[in-house]
Amino acid sequence: MSLAVVILAAGKGTRMRSARPKVLHELADRALLQHVIDSARALEPDRIVVVYGHGGEMVRDAVPGDDLTWVEQADQRGTGDAVNQALPVLSEDQVLVLLGDVPLIQPATLARFIGNVDEQALALMTLELEEPGGYGRIVRDDTGSVRRIVEYKDASEGERAIREINTGILGAPRTFLEQALPALSAENAQGEYYLTDIIAMAVNQGLVVRASGPENPWETDGVNDRVQLARLERIWQQVQAERLMRAGVTLRDPARIDIRGQLHCSEDVSIDIDSLFEGRVELGSGTQIGSHCVLIDCSLGENVTVLPYSHLEGVTAQANCTIGPHARLRTSTQLGRGAKVGNFVETKNAVIGPLSKVNHLAYIGDAEIGEDVNVGAGTITCNYDGAAKHRTVLRDGAFIGSNASLVAPVTIGRNATVGAGSTINRDVPDEELAVGRGKQRNIEGWQRPTKN
Ligand code: UD1
Ligand code: CA
Repeated sequence: MSLAVVILAAGKGTRMRSARPKVLHELADRALLQHVIDSARALEPDRIVVVYGHGGEMVRDAVPGDDLTWVEQADQRGTGDAVNQALPVLSEDQVLVLLGDVPLIQPATLARFIGNVDEQALALMTLELEEPGGYGRIVRDDTGSVRRIVEYKDASEGERAIREINTGILGAPRTFLEQALPALSAENAQGEYYLTDIIAMAVNQGLVVRASGPENPWETDGVNDRVQLARLERIWQQVQAERLMRAGVTLRDPARIDIRGQLHCSEDVSIDIDSLFEGRVELGSGTQIGSHCVLIDCSLGENVTVLPYSHLEGVTAQANCTIGPHARLRTSTQLGRGAKVGNFVETKNAVIGPLSKVNHLAYIGDAEIGEDVNVGAGTITCNYDGAAKHRTVLRDGAFIGSNASLVAPVTIGRNATVGAGSTINRDVPDEELAVGRGKQRNIEGWQRPTKN
């Protein structure tokens, strides 16, 4: 059977109090709508339709994908009208309706759920809640079969007491939707065409409604305001933290880690408190991340130690490196096995070879450092002349004394030494010592000025 997923994302989301459409607000750095689309894609459906309206082009531009069919709902006349607008572009047997403001629905739940739809049956995702709030309520008959859904605003006192709610996710045969949706009426408390009214229509026509729940209750939590968004963000962080711990990662406090992207860890990684991971980060086994670090798009090998308060973006590090504390490693930094980058060191577009050390207060940019090189405290590569960037090359075994200025383009040879405080603007041959600093003079009999 072929499958179409229709994602409803046309509403304004008034309660967000925002110029941005609700579905573009972000959870873990990804738009709510993007989360739903990613889960839909995991089902490998034949078609994904996004119904958009409020915020129009802004929504389309924010969510890329050639595989998406966009349908505009010019006036938001209700969820039933929204699905009805999508019908002309559908030809699949089954239609799965998802909501753009229910972001954490998981592929495993959907895969199982869609199995409940056939020519004679609809699938409805429902959930029992302690506090059912403003959700639509599931009305069942004496035999326990689902009869209809009543929206909260239309519900009687007795119906509001029902704790089984409509999550908003449903699956139906397309042919049924084609005859049911045009027949909806908007005579209700909100003057809208309710998608939920098709349940009673299906029952009246003798179709079966199969209700089932999500695998985890948080999957169907909706976002209507920023308080709910923040709550769901915390839930998502907790879910990710638990996945990591089950995969063999030690989290010193699972409530104090934030993952806004993908974090892939081998076994026995250990992460201290309050670190943030963005984009795609990979950590090899035994690697330790100290507290208060930020890692963005990094790949660290085995047994790497990142000490507290380090900021790493676009870093690749081989096994046994030590980084930080307070290191700032920027885009295209590559560390060889056992390299060390210490406190208050900034690097960018730099290769630092195996066992080399840049331990204190240095700037290394556009540089290629060989094996077993020692870069002294306060050394900087002067890589920028105001117009262009130039390269600095330090060959294997070079020793750079403290507070050297290496004016690029420049190459320091194998096992060459640069004296402390030197400004180096010519290449240094292998094995030689370069000293480039003013000669010291000691002034005999010099008198300090005195105050009168
Ligand atoms: C809807 C359900 C309710 C359910 C709840 C779950 C209806 C009538 N009610 O209520 O039973 O408990 O979801 O979260 O379906 N949308 C459009 N076009 C429209 C109206 C809405 O695309 O004309 C989109 C919204 O952008 C949103 C989704 O549909 O993503 C749900 O709409 P919303 O107005 O939030 O419905 P609820 O009142 O939450
Ligand atoms: Ca909603």
